[in-house]
Amino acid sequence: MSWHHLALQSPLVSGEKTTAIIEDKEILVCRVDEHYFAVASRCTHSAWPLASEPIEGMEIICTLHGARFDLRDGCPTAGPASRPLATFPIELRDGELYVSL
Ligand code: FES
Repeated sequence: MSWHHLALQSPLVSGEKTTAIIEDKEILVCRVDEHYFAVASRCTHSAWPLASEPIEGMEIICTLHGARFDLRDGCPTAGPASRPLATFPIELRDGELYVSL
């Protein structure tokens, strides 16, 4: 397992998200309160980009057709998506974020 430092323009505040490219893979990095999540950046239903989609509680909502995903495990909590988002380990170390693919 290899860890990659995320060089963000500015620290994320709660409810904020950004995308990052790691090993040619685009991931979505989200913060909810003091928790950070790294998930696949596209909806598993029809690959809609999630970077601008809203977060409610611990869920991200794909507004194209209404699917919702729990950021903690990527699992859909509302259809039409039935497959989970890929999730990746993420850690905050001395104020810097690291993601493992
Ligand atoms: S593309 Fe996300 S719900 Fe259809």
